[in-house]
Amino acid sequence: MLKIGVIPGDGVGPEVIRESLAVLEKVAGQDGIDYQLENFDIGGERYLSTGEVLPQAVQDRLRAQDVILLGAVGHPGVPPGVLEKGILLKLRFDFHQYINLRPIRLYPGAPCPIRDKGPDDIDMVVVRENNEDLYVGAGGFTYKGTPEEVAIQTSMNTRAGVERCLRYAFEAARARAANGLFRGLSDEDRKKGFTRQLTLVAKTNVLTFAHDLWMRAFQETARDYPEVKCDYQHVDACCMRMVTNPERFDVIVTTNMFGDIITDLGAVLQGGMGLASSGNINPNKTSPSMFEPVHGSAPDIAGKGIANPLAAILSTAMMLDHAGAGTSADRIRRAVAAVLAQSSPRTPDLGGKSSTAEVGQAVRDALG
Ligand code: NAI
Ligand code: MG
Repeated sequence: MLKIGVIPGDGVGPEVIRESLAVLEKVAGQDGIDYQLENFDIGGERYLSTGEVLPQAVQDRLRAQDVILLGAVGHPGVPPGVLEKGILLKLRFDFHQYINLRPIRLYPGAPCPIRDKGPDDIDMVVVRENNEDLYVGAGGFTYKGTPEEVAIQTSMNTRAGVERCLRYAFEAARARAANGLFRGLSDEDRKKGFTRQLTLVAKTNVLTFAHDLWMRAFQETARDYPEVKCDYQHVDACCMRMVTNPERFDVIVTTNMFGDIITDLGAVLQGGMGLASSGNINPNKTSPSMFEPVHGSAPDIAGKGIANPLAAILSTAMMLDHAGAGTSADRIRRAVAAVLAQSSPRTPDLGGKSSTAEVGQAVRDALG
């Protein structure tokens, strides 16, 4: 019995989660997956009515789940940071979800903003460190509110934390060899026995302490993965190349902050926020991993029934991968691909006129 905690959250969160759960129900019925849902009403509405962000009792019940599916949190009436730090970051840290996994894959039929690039060129995965760096909340103010004010926010990088992230990324690169050789390898690379590539994205030329540690750990960990070609890009050059030459990326491993930024760029490469999925993963499974679309609560379109549910549905597929139901996850991805291969139904973000519910129904129909 797979225990799934569901946090629909705010704005479009509940709208896209409704469709995700309907897709899950169908695929689980077809494939014989036994699961139970427990709903959690945390988010902006609860905070505004009760002042509670993430009560301990709620977190304890979340911890008892096998996996968590989250829509989005973020409310125009709540100051920035309250929900993001109090729910998202707290769960990522407390549950040791030290990997943020973000596949960037352009499905045939999805709109790509880059001229002359297509599905063969855009198929990478970003492994973002998810428990350290500038996000640990180390820092403070001195003389706050005065002209002499000082604000310090410290990036924390531990050797153990960096190395476990790198190792996960090398394993991910190794595993992709099952899909064939990385297309960006030269003849010479193939002769050397390389099958896939891992690019470290950092800023070693300026962040000469933190990213020196990353580079040394990268080079040392690489010895255990001789078939993975090691590549390096400074983060600024990476942004440029993701646009000019997306085909040169296979697996990217990067810090929490840089990963946050480059994956929004990645979302656009794959057709927009409505298609980008992610998982906050605790690879050791000592506490639940949490799967969510990359997008937020989209207050500008919330309540209209037009949010694209595909990012949340693809995140549900990632959840099934993690739960050991990879075949069912692949079936969901194929159903999404079948829907995108047609010109309709599509939500407005993809240039269509269809509703969230119509796209969800189409995915269920494509499951057969
Ligand atoms: P956002 O991702 O909510 O929206 C950015 C743009 O993308 C908007 O124009 C929106 O309409 C569009 N969009 C997003 N999801 C879409 C979907 N499924 N279908 C079609 N269009 C979609 O980011 P924004 O506006 O910066 O943040 C809104 C709130 O969400 C804020 O409170 C923010 O803190 C929060 N947020 C929460 C996240 C989470 O729960 N993981 C992640 C990002 C933001
Ligand atoms: Mg972000």
